[in-house]
Amino acid sequence: MTSIDDAKRTAARAALAELPEAGVIGLGTGSTTRFFIDALGELVASGRHYTGVPTSEASRAQATALGIPLLGDEGPWDIAVTVDGADEVDDALNLIKGGGGAQTREKIVSYSSRRTIIIVDGTKLSKQLGEKWAVPIEVLAFAHRATAAHLAKHGTPKLREKASVPVRTDAGNLIYDLHCGPIADPRALDRVLHEVPGVVETGLFIGRADLVLVASEDGVKRRAR
Ligand code: A5P
Repeated sequence: MTSIDDAKRTAARAALAELPEAGVIGLGTGSTTRFFIDALGELVASGRHYTGVPTSEASRAQATALGIPLLGDEGPWDIAVTVDGADEVDDALNLIKGGGGAQTREKIVSYSSRRTIIIVDGTKLSKQLGEKWAVPIEVLAFAHRATAAHLAKHGTPKLREKASVPVRTDAGNLIYDLHCGPIADPRALDRVLHEVPGVVETGLFIGRADLVLVASEDGVKRRAR
């Protein structure tokens, strides 16, 4: 294995063995999932019958270009498996997601999935969530400075910007990255963050991953819940 990209590709390929023969597949978002969607496109091109539910406009565009049929955004869906990436994975397989700002759709799609499989390279593992990443929080633009003041009780919120312009999610909302340091109780933090009006969704995924496939130089390790 020569690079992080190789590890991401290896994890994505390993997820293919977890797919049903045919069915509805949730399509995550991010650089690791891009490799998975490419591989799924190859299966569809070879005649396998998969339909996708994308978690972002980027994943929708990629899947459409590859000829993967997609279901509508309204739901409801009966998704056999969702395959997605993560920014950080702890020992209990809880996750931080949202580095690409797609955590709200990702969580909705995961919630409608019988299984959620997370594909990562080994750099994403940590003992406790928050050791490596801030928690991305999607918030309404209305009163976002007030929302951030409430978030500040739980860490240091930083408005996500690109070239000094606030980043907008696919839904047109803003993102605050909440720097908390290691999180002792991610479930409790998720609960209090949801109590703040204006919070649309957090990037804490508690108990959502059924299987994490971790690729590193030693190969792919399966970590099941
Ligand atoms: C998208 O908002 C995220 O949840 C991604 O799934 C996560 O950031 C992992 O992305 P990479 O695979 O690019 O690291």
